[in-house]
Amino acid sequence: MSEVTIRCRKDGPLIVTGPAKVTDTDGNEYDTSGKENIALCRCGVSGNRPFCDGSHRASGFQSDDSARA
Ligand code: FES
Repeated sequence: MSEVTIRCRKDGPLIVTGPAKVTDTDGNEYDTSGKENIALCRCGVSGNRPFCDGSHRASGFQSDDSARA
């Protein structure tokens, strides 16, 4: 697979599918080997940022983004 897709999940993380790299603020790459999808936190409460750890559910985070204007 050579294409990266980022899907906004309702009330949840951004789901990244494809050959993407995730780096920290210093440019060090996180080990995401073996993962078909990467879930990036967008609620801000994950204890494992930048990755989602499911905490968005208890936080009441809401987002229902639509590409349709
Ligand atoms: S989006 Fe899941 S913990 Fe933030």
